[in-house]
Amino acid sequence: MVDFYALARPLLFTIEPETAHGLTLKAMKAGLMPSCGSISDPALTQKLWGLKFPNPIGIAAGFDKNAEVIGACFKMGFGFVEPGTVTPKPQHGNLKPRIFRDPANDAVINRMGFPNGGMNAFKANLEKFLAKGQRTAGAIGINIGMNKSQKEPAKDYAMLIKMLAPMVDYLTINISSPNTPGLRDLQSREPLLELLSVVKDERRKACGDHPPPLLVKLAPDLTEAQQEELAQAALYGGVDGLILTNTTLERPESLPEKFASEKGGLSGQPLSAKSTEVVRNFYKLTGGKIPLIGVGGVSTGAQAYVKIKAGASLVQLYSALVFKGPGVVNAINTELLKLLKADGYANIAEAIGADHGA
Ligand SMILES: Cc1cc2nc3c(=O)[nH]c(=O)nc-3n(C[C@H](O)[C@H](O)[C@H](O)COP(=O)(O)O)c2cc1C
Repeated sequence: MVDFYALARPLLFTIEPETAHGLTLKAMKAGLMPSCGSISDPALTQKLWGLKFPNPIGIAAGFDKNAEVIGACFKMGFGFVEPGTVTPKPQHGNLKPRIFRDPANDAVINRMGFPNGGMNAFKANLEKFLAKGQRTAGAIGINIGMNKSQKEPAKDYAMLIKMLAPMVDYLTINISSPNTPGLRDLQSREPLLELLSVVKDERRKACGDHPPPLLVKLAPDLTEAQQEELAQAALYGGVDGLILTNTTLERPESLPEKFASEKGGLSGQPLSAKSTEVVRNFYKLTGGKIPLIGVGGVSTGAQAYVKIKAGASLVQLYSALVFKGPGVVNAINTELLKLLKADGYANIAEAIGADHGA
């Protein structure tokens, strides 16, 4: 089969990264992206939090900030989508340029700062998608964050939950993006427990007895002591899932100096092993009691499988789409199926946390 993305890539890579992303979204909205179909196999399906996941590969937050291309992401073969990060008020984010690619290392640095159209526009887009009745394609989670100007984070998260929680399958509290001052401070026991208490209260008011599961997305740059503290807080605070990880502030020496000197969060291949170790640690620290979503530098089925065996129930990606194009989703699922079969697993659920023994 002709790989159209491989042909288009040299041209796309002459365009400034955020402009290229904008064009991609436009093409997706216009239905111009090729529909890849999806890999459908019982071995890849899973029920988690009472939700059906047709396959374990999801699109990570940040790709579809305003919930504009949910349907097109499902058509690419993703088993679940996570639009956002959305904030209550619209905001511009940081000055451009704020996305940088390093094609030699399949790496991206971004310092977007949550540019988005705000929760009203997000809700309208979500409603438009839901009205089409295609919800069965996979699960829809939303990733929520606070406005840069907000000094009391819980207020923003509560507002977002009140408006959006009844419409979605899961909620992700993002407290780990490096580009919003103060946000990562929520990654410690007391601030997190306080936030969880407000958020869960609001979720109960908005959704009653059947609330969507509450996930928390963490950074890869946590010390072992911080990971331990947060694992205990997540168990104590009733967190339903953890997304591991967001981008890193670290700069491996292998990166070219000019690229590495850009401020922001690094994603893609240089993050792969580091985020897997965080998944492995949290699986151990929580005794496998909280489902984990592994994200960071996944671009092959083998890399997804490594995260699953380390303890991830599901996997997400973003940067791999930039370097490999939409075909990467089905390629990962196809390879994953082969790897599961080769190891004698009848279903993906049997492989989760396999590294840790029975
Ligand atoms: C351009 C860009 C924007 C991002 N924006 C967000 C965001 O708004 N919220 C969030 O939780 N993560 C955001 N992320 C982080 C990704 O969701 C993901 O955690 C990270 O990129 C690691 O995965 P990857 O290596 O597959 O890209 C962004 C990543 C990139 C590259």
